[in-house]
Amino acid sequence: METSIRAAITGTGSYLPEKILTNNDLEKMVKTSDEWITTRTGVKERRLAAQQEAASDLGAEAARRALREAGVKPEDVECLIVATVTGDMPFPSTACFIQNLCGLKNAAGFDIAAACSGYIYALNIAKSFIESRTYKKILVVAVDVLSRITDWHDRGTCVLFGDGAGAAVLEPARDDNGIISVYLGSDGAATDMLKLPGGGSRFPTSAETIKNKLHYIKMSGNKIFKLAVTAMIDSAQKAMALANLKCEDIKLLIPHQANIRIIEATAKTLKLPVERIFVNIQKYGNMSGATTAIGLDEAYRENRIKKGDYVELVAFGAGLTWGAAVIKWGIKNIA
Ligand code: UT7
Repeated sequence: METSIRAAITGTGSYLPEKILTNNDLEKMVKTSDEWITTRTGVKERRLAAQQEAASDLGAEAARRALREAGVKPEDVECLIVATVTGDMPFPSTACFIQNLCGLKNAAGFDIAAACSGYIYALNIAKSFIESRTYKKILVVAVDVLSRITDWHDRGTCVLFGDGAGAAVLEPARDDNGIISVYLGSDGAATDMLKLPGGGSRFPTSAETIKNKLHYIKMSGNKIFKLAVTAMIDSAQKAMALANLKCEDIKLLIPHQANIRIIEATAKTLKLPVERIFVNIQKYGNMSGATTAIGLDEAYRENRIKKGDYVELVAFGAGLTWGAAVIKWGIKNIA
């Protein structure tokens, strides 16, 4: 009988566009203040893709960096999974664009849509492919260019979002490191709370949909806030339980960065001290699925996680969707 295998992350990478939009810049665009944004959300600045940059351009750069780190050649990648809600086009998939940009000529590629939880959903698919011995080298990319679907006149949303991409290479683990558990959930009764109504088959683009601004993010911030805290705590605890671990075993929690107050409330209930919570919301805001992917890459590069540490990702977002993953970190830090 074949022994079971674990899916390990063997390389990570991220890409943030150069352009920075600060809270002071936003003060000139909508009725807001740096003080309000900082205290109510934790965001100080965010990155914006250049005019010629689409999701695949950001995603391809993050992917190249992850491949380099893993020492995997583009032609050896067998599967590419892209988590995005702001793909280059409704079709072809953004995975196909990234495949072409990175020369992944032997990969099967597809996109998944789970909004802010997208990276964790994609990691779980990759994990299953590896554990079932379907593929041995998988590239996961989480990318969003939320600036393109943000209403820059709506102060209730435009202060929150940014653009970015994160990527990871997954391969069968050579030791006991890897993704230990994943917990996922969704609630379709809450589709109204956060959505991009226009441009799909419900409201195909027309002069009317544009006039009614249906091509922009619509969010019930307050309602989502409360559900977010509950979903984050519950997911984090469930993934830990599946991994037979307790909060004190987790070296670093990397939460989705939607609002610093959601992160703090989650940390407080889980009784995790600040040094074991990863926060980069001040630099980038909320980049949907890319947030946890970039968080994992940065945490590793900043030496916040070392080989053998347990790290947990947790996220929630439109859908609603939510999820958490516990990983025994397998990459050795370079001093
Ligand atoms: O990742 C996907 C999931 N998304 C989220 O998790 C978002 C969760 N929600 C949130 O982060 C928060 O609800 C927001 C940051 C969106 C809003 O913060 P809040 O503390 O819930 O504010 P609020 O909506 O209750 O509004 C309080 C006040 C209102 O004014 P009045 O009615 O009290 O006079 C708003 O109009 O703050 C006002 N306000 C602002 N003021 C200055 C809302 N946005 C702004 C702003 N600048 N940008």
